[in-house]
Amino acid sequence: ARAAAEEHFEATLAREQRIEPRDWMPDGYRRTLVRQIAQHAHSEIIGMQPEGAWITRAPSLRRKAVLLAKVQDEAGHGLYLYSAAETLGADRQDLTERLVDGRQKYSSIFNYPTLSFADVGVIGWLVDGAAICNQVPLCRSSYGPYARAMVRVCKEESFHQRQGYELLMTMMRGTQAQREMVQDAVDRWWWPSLMMFGPPDADSPNTAQSMAWRIKRHTNDELRQRFVDMTVPQAEKLGVTLPDPELRWNEERGHHDFGTPDWDELKRVISGGGPCNAERVERRRAAHEDGAWVREAAAAHAAKQAERSRR
Ligand code: 3HC
Repeated sequence: ARAAAEEHFEATLAREQRIEPRDWMPDGYRRTLVRQIAQHAHSEIIGMQPEGAWITRAPSLRRKAVLLAKVQDEAGHGLYLYSAAETLGADRQDLTERLVDGRQKYSSIFNYPTLSFADVGVIGWLVDGAAICNQVPLCRSSYGPYARAMVRVCKEESFHQRQGYELLMTMMRGTQAQREMVQDAVDRWWWPSLMMFGPPDADSPNTAQSMAWRIKRHTNDELRQRFVDMTVPQAEKLGVTLPDPELRWNEERGHHDFGTPDWDELKRVISGGGPCNAERVERRRAAHEDGAWVREAAAAHAAKQAERSRR
């Protein structure tokens, strides 16, 4: 029976069809999906913090409203993804505890500080731009609930990227000081954005298996290259320079050559040594604890409702 189930699983993948929660799946497939989806969800929730710091400092009501909408979207993306993880048998409370006590990861990119309002624009343009490069292929991921969550996320992500780019365009048409703020933010966020795609393929323990199971549809380096090729013309239109002296168009390859990210920095930031790691995790822990009474009240209310409906 197991052989037949395995055959059905492989045939479903080969037909580019979806694996659904009630289908048989190899334990390793379930485990790696919980790992990736949970950490994707953690990234969305932690990702609310860097920009959240600018909601009360936004320079106009319009910028405040747009930023509020974006941060609220990130919370929603986290909830879609935790729900997708729950279809695999994961428990949301347990996942949050794993995040808070460092047993699960979140994206390195959110461990950098947002030093000026230009950072809000650069995060929208580069970080959400990188997220789009990474998340569009995930709409074709073999696990149904994850792929469907990505379709909704990608629609909202394009608004995130556009609002960031428009914010920077406005600043670049402003004063010299504003143009310098934008360039300074680009200099600080460019390389960490390239690191969002993960280590080089040769140093990526999960990529081969994730590609075989069609969870990932492209490798880390392929998506990083796609992001660089997409972003260079946008930087030229914006009038900023990207901080990489090796960046140049390579006619033969039909892609841009670019320098090597500092993989030691990525390793350091992933293992807790980035500028803001402690603050980000502490903030998440405190928010979880401060929210305990809401969860208890909701559970008590649900129990009462259930009791009442039984009478
Ligand atoms: N930050 C933190 N951890 C990272 C990382 C990064 N930038 N890049 C890789 N890692 C971790 C991996 O999770 C893995 O550790 P684990 O086995 O404990 O999970 C290890 O480093 C080795 O990396 P691999 O390449 O072997 O791991 P993956 O195959 O999982 O690839 C990934 C990493 C590309 C991030 C992949 O997991 C993925 O595509 N995840 C879904 C997208 C996602 O999580 N994006 C995070 C950005 S936040 C975002 O997009 C929201 C938007 O609103 C900004």
